[in-house]
Amino acid sequence: MQHTSKLPNVGTTIFSIMSGLANQHNAINLSQGFPNFKSDQKLMDLVTNAMNSGYNQYAPMAGNMQLRIAIANKFDNLYNSSYNPDSEITVTAGATQAIYTIISAFIRPDDEVVIFRPAYDCYEPAIEINGGKTISIQLEAPNYSVDWNEVKQKIHSKTKMVIINTPQNPSGTLFSKDDMLKLEELLKGTDIILLSDEVYEHIIFDGEQHQSACLFPDLKSRTFVVASFGKTFHNTGWKVGYCCAPKELMQEFQKVHQFNVFCVNHPLQKALGDYLQEPNHYLELSAFYQRKRDLFLSLIRDSRFKITPSKGTYFQVLNYSDITNEYDLDFAKRLTIEHKIASIPMSAFNENNLDNKVLRFCFAKTDDTLKHAADILNKI
Ligand SMILES: Cc1ncc(COP(=O)(O)O)c(C=O)c1O
Repeated sequence: MQHTSKLPNVGTTIFSIMSGLANQHNAINLSQGFPNFKSDQKLMDLVTNAMNSGYNQYAPMAGNMQLRIAIANKFDNLYNSSYNPDSEITVTAGATQAIYTIISAFIRPDDEVVIFRPAYDCYEPAIEINGGKTISIQLEAPNYSVDWNEVKQKIHSKTKMVIINTPQNPSGTLFSKDDMLKLEELLKGTDIILLSDEVYEHIIFDGEQHQSACLFPDLKSRTFVVASFGKTFHNTGWKVGYCCAPKELMQEFQKVHQFNVFCVNHPLQKALGDYLQEPNHYLELSAFYQRKRDLFLSLIRDSRFKITPSKGTYFQVLNYSDITNEYDLDFAKRLTIEHKIASIPMSAFNENNLDNKVLRFCFAKTDDTLKHAADILNKI
């Protein structure tokens, strides 16, 4: 049988490649973004309780109502921003499904979607499979700041959507309030939809405030805010997330969602709804990860890597240009095979695989793992 691939340029993701190599060579795996410690036992017990209490059949299409109300309350408390749990919130199978469904619901052939690179890897294939065109804005290391004049030049009548991600994976940078105001100004008066990937909203350091798109009224009116419980509660394998948007946008989203997954794992939703009743469960997360970032950075401060501290997410990028001139993918592979530590080469996230001699390390790991990793990095 012959067929033409709809995604001819898509192969195995860099995460699978580096994690596979880490397993093969018994290396410490700081490549893929997942914690190597357990989720809260209380939350796991709540899942068992939910199953034992009969939450084992289909949930409502938009999600368990208690969970949607808890999400709405979180937006109220944190951002003084209201979303109606009846019509403006949908629980999804992780943030990835929310992102894919948003793009599928709105992008038609030849529509343009602006993304900022380095970018998380699920945006572009979703745009492409729907016939859209990715317009990349490449941000420059080490600050990855946005030139809003460049964005202005790339936005025109064919632009249907802009995708932002703050705190940003992989760079560990943030959009400031000023960035968000500039974006708001640029999109004002257009029909452009904003997809705001905020999966790391609760992992933000040094007293900075998360600038959710819902804080900016004109932006909010055109935005899907996307979030993930996997990032927030240390259980990336559960794949439960959600998105919020004004009713008219959410209606279109749900037309696709109901035939794509229909509804998401019910007992997990029930447990997450219970667990969210205690705000400290997410409010403590920044301090928890800032301690890990600070530990990791203090342990490697005398290494030959150049460090710009991460401002959010659980990723730290390190520049290795004082160590070698090797292509970042080659260096990342060599570190895994010879030195037994795996990372992700940043070129994987860049336009035309631009190589800035930077690797991304995940510090969502036990202190022991971070100490072991630092011992290795200090010897390179
Ligand atoms: C920026 C960003 N968006 C979305 C996702 C996907 O989240 P989920 O695992 O909930 O699908 C990730 C996961 O790494 C991410 O880093």
